[in-house]
Amino acid sequence: MLCFVKVIQFIGIWLQKIFTMCGITGYVGYKNASPILLEGLRKLEYRGYDSAGLALLNGSQLYLEKRKGRVSVLADEMQKHPFRAQTGISHTRWATHGEVTDANAHPHLSSDGNFALVHNGIIENYESIKKFLSAEGYSFSSQTDSEVLANLIAYHYARRTDEKCESRFLEAVRKALMHVEGTYGIAVLCRFFPKQIVAARKGSPLLIGVGKDEMLVSSDVLGFAGRAKNVIYLEDSQVASIAPENCDIVTIGNKQIDFVVSKIDWELENADLAGASHYMEKEIFEQPKALENAIRGRISDDLSTAQLGGINMTPNELRQIDRILFCACGTAWHACLAAEHLIEKYARIPVEVEYASEFRYRNAPLDKSTLVFVISQSGETIDTLEALRESKRKGFKTLAITNSVGSTISRESDGGLYQYAGKEIGVASTKAFTSQVAISLLLALYIGRMRDLSFAEGREIVKAVKSLPAMAEEVLKLAPKIQEIAKKYAKFDDFLFLGRLSEFPVALEGALKLKEISYIHAEAYPAGEMKHGPIALVCPECPTVVFANTDDVLPKIISNAQEIKARKGPVIAITNSPEDFEKSADDIIPLPKVHEALCPIISTIPAQLLAYYIALERGCDVDKPRNLAKAVTVE
Ligand code: M6R
Repeated sequence: MLCFVKVIQFIGIWLQKIFTMCGITGYVGYKNASPILLEGLRKLEYRGYDSAGLALLNGSQLYLEKRKGRVSVLADEMQKHPFRAQTGISHTRWATHGEVTDANAHPHLSSDGNFALVHNGIIENYESIKKFLSAEGYSFSSQTDSEVLANLIAYHYARRTDEKCESRFLEAVRKALMHVEGTYGIAVLCRFFPKQIVAARKGSPLLIGVGKDEMLVSSDVLGFAGRAKNVIYLEDSQVASIAPENCDIVTIGNKQIDFVVSKIDWELENADLAGASHYMEKEIFEQPKALENAIRGRISDDLSTAQLGGINMTPNELRQIDRILFCACGTAWHACLAAEHLIEKYARIPVEVEYASEFRYRNAPLDKSTLVFVISQSGETIDTLEALRESKRKGFKTLAITNSVGSTISRESDGGLYQYAGKEIGVASTKAFTSQVAISLLLALYIGRMRDLSFAEGREIVKAVKSLPAMAEEVLKLAPKIQEIAKKYAKFDDFLFLGRLSEFPVALEGALKLKEISYIHAEAYPAGEMKHGPIALVCPECPTVVFANTDDVLPKIISNAQEIKARKGPVIAITNSPEDFEKSADDIIPLPKVHEALCPIISTIPAQLLAYYIALERGCDVDKPRNLAKAVTVE
């Protein structure tokens, strides 16, 4: 067994080099495992909430409980049938293969009853493995790809005839994984080893929490439910054998690993509701603080620029860059579009924005002086991670903006900028977006000041950036007004969102928020595009949200609003020129006048609030919208 070789402290900078969607937890120690596992699952429910289950091991007795529905359903069941054990694994599922049923819920047992497994990811070659195992006499009781893996481990275990030592369990898992194509984060129990969990990962995050005389396994530090002070981030293709006091890690190819133990910063990981009704509400209102954290220590007043040490590039290296390519998914992709506007405007470098899911497969020709930037709140989105890996494989310098310290993306990129926005739990991303845009603005300022942005222009932006938290606070005071407006519009089933220039990404983000949590059909366009098609949708039953805060195009967007009004379409204007919309808007959300560079941040906040209050009016489950999960770790 190896003991922990090195404990490193997170010191608030991007650590250089050292560093499903389902949720997995595991516990091995001397306490009653079941409440610990359930608590961990509750914290991980944001990763998926189709079904939940756990497997407990006491002596050689393996107990299994799994239920369709939320963790609370499983917890009720456990109240009825308590089972004491000091070792266990559990899972909250976001369905990939197989419907949402009790049978398809995890954990899955091998048909010989010796192994229980929880899995996050997709086993791509499960059909062929299943065929092989069926011929070998193994049977299956679910439609999942995961059950195949439980049986494959049982098969490899049974093939060995040596004594029942702990390494035989690890070996069986390792051998099984050698035949698996796809992605996985797994935790496995074996009936013959009551004080051991074997865990492995490839493409799906898995962490080992180190507590006092106990170890935990989880897809996210949150799943440790505050019990662990230290964490081991399992890397791809590693298999760990975990006991209460020690841990042994090898690669799938059986190479011993000297792993690193990192300290958990629980302040950053805090995930309580703190009196709010929903995480989304809490996170919207945390934006002033998140913005403050994004800019803290990153501004130089003297030089009228930003200081971004984490990107690990000298000014000279940065000057060699001819193009920046941004890759991300969902809301983070919208942040990339905002970054494009800001960087092209202030730094004068051409920027391209790609969907990470497209980029990784389309073999885009890139110029050698391209810098690749990925943005990901979770730092675990598989498409974004693979886009990063593809870029690295081709030899490009890769940087990342992420909110998750120690995440896979933060570990694999060449450098980057942490958001320090605090844990984001709400499935609909809010504070992460505005913080990502704020950091992009700092980037624009930083690179801009190395190029054509004058000291005076830089000083104006610095001043604006420093006012961001206060401005966000100001806008949040509009919440009661926005809630009233939301009541009026909650009945509509179609919305249009229009914005121009840096507010087009805001329109996209506003529409996405509404879709995600209210299930309202919403489309976003650059306002000038409206006449080329979307205007056909305009009617009294289709409200349009118009963002109008960008001076350069204000007269244009005023005309766009009038064109909608002329066709009897209801208009909600989110604008810092309310007087200009008196005739054309049915409702106005008046914003403070801010430096134009702040527009994509400041005007997003009312859109988030509008979506939130509309969802509440419609009685939607805001924090757990249907079909979605927070971290998308499967393709
Ligand atoms: O964790 P990431 O920022 O990589 O996540 C990307 C998207 O999955 C995420 O932004 C998603 O679109 C959110 N549900 C948006 O609210």
